[in-house]
Amino acid sequence: MSTFRQHCRRWGRFIANRARFPQATIGDSSFVSGDSQLSPAVTLGKECRVFSARLGTGTRLGDEVVIGPRSQVMRSSLGRACSVEADAEVIGSALAEFVAIQTRSRINQVQIGRFSYVAREAYLNTVVIGRFSSIGPRVMAGLGEHPTDLISTAPVFYSTLRQSGASFAPKQAVLERRPITIGHDVWVAANVFIRDGVTIGDGAIVAAGAVVHQDVPAYAMVGGVPAKLIRFRYPADQIERLLALQWWGWDEARLRAAAPWFAQPRLEAFFEHTAVRAQPVRS
Ligand SMILES: CC(C)(COP(=O)(O)OP(=O)(O)OC[C@H]1O[C@@H](n2cnc3c(N)ncnc32)[C@H](O)[C@@H]1OP(=O)(O)O)[C@@H](O)C(=O)NCCC(=O)NCCS
Repeated sequence: MSTFRQHCRRWGRFIANRARFPQATIGDSSFVSGDSQLSPAVTLGKECRVFSARLGTGTRLGDEVVIGPRSQVMRSSLGRACSVEADAEVIGSALAEFVAIQTRSRINQVQIGRFSYVAREAYLNTVVIGRFSSIGPRVMAGLGEHPTDLISTAPVFYSTLRQSGASFAPKQAVLERRPITIGHDVWVAANVFIRDGVTIGDGAIVAAGAVVHQDVPAYAMVGGVPAKLIRFRYPADQIERLLALQWWGWDEARLRAAAPWFAQPRLEAFFEHTAVRAQPVRS
């Protein structure tokens, strides 16, 4: 397309966006479909695309963010090149750059580091996820707990949250939710349930269908109901070396250059070819 045409198209979008959503701040070359709903004080960076979605007050999208049809993003910040697929919900969350939330997933009070993704139909509540982590389809994390040592497990007796629409409790008597932490480069496979308060260490793998009820050490592979150690992925001394390397903090250029050494199994070759110190990055 000629530069003149591109220029006209950009201006066309700018004028249409200003007319439809006068209180939002919409960056250059961004497209917002006319049937989208934008609350006041929503900010979009450059080259974003929002299709038939709802963006709530306080939401900030970085450059090149894509929001799919019928999705909702409320009180959240999304870094550069994040995507939220159709029918997904992102509430009160902070996503670093290059984070994808796949279709029909719901995340609430979740922080996610760069290059991580949440596959379809996952439900995550009050979770901190590191960088380069893969959260599989239908993973459930942070659903809350009922006490097991009281006469009744019904929240109406101990919770003021009115789960059933009523509460007999004069004050909150039980801690119902505890945050979950998932480290860097973790793979949580399909249909995993993670109990409140659990920490999953860097480099760990959780096998499909597991119920994780206690902390998982770094570079462990766990599976089953309840989840048990299957094996450690590397000997203890090599795990220490991997953790000391903190490669998930490297800048993008360094990661791209080192990519072939990540996509092969020999640890010694990996250490040898990635030994140069890198500049850590934020987010
Ligand atoms: C865990 C998994 C990655 C296999 O890893 P692997 O290193 O190839 O492991 P193996 O197949 O050699 O199995 C090792 C042991 O783990 C057990 N195991 C494998 N998968 C398991 C599971 N889902 N739950 C419990 N135990 C499992 C095996 O029975 C075997 O046990 P044994 O040593 O007593 O015989 C794989 O089984 C899995 O769960 N994949 C998930 C796929 C998925 O969810 N994809 C969605 C995309 S995110």
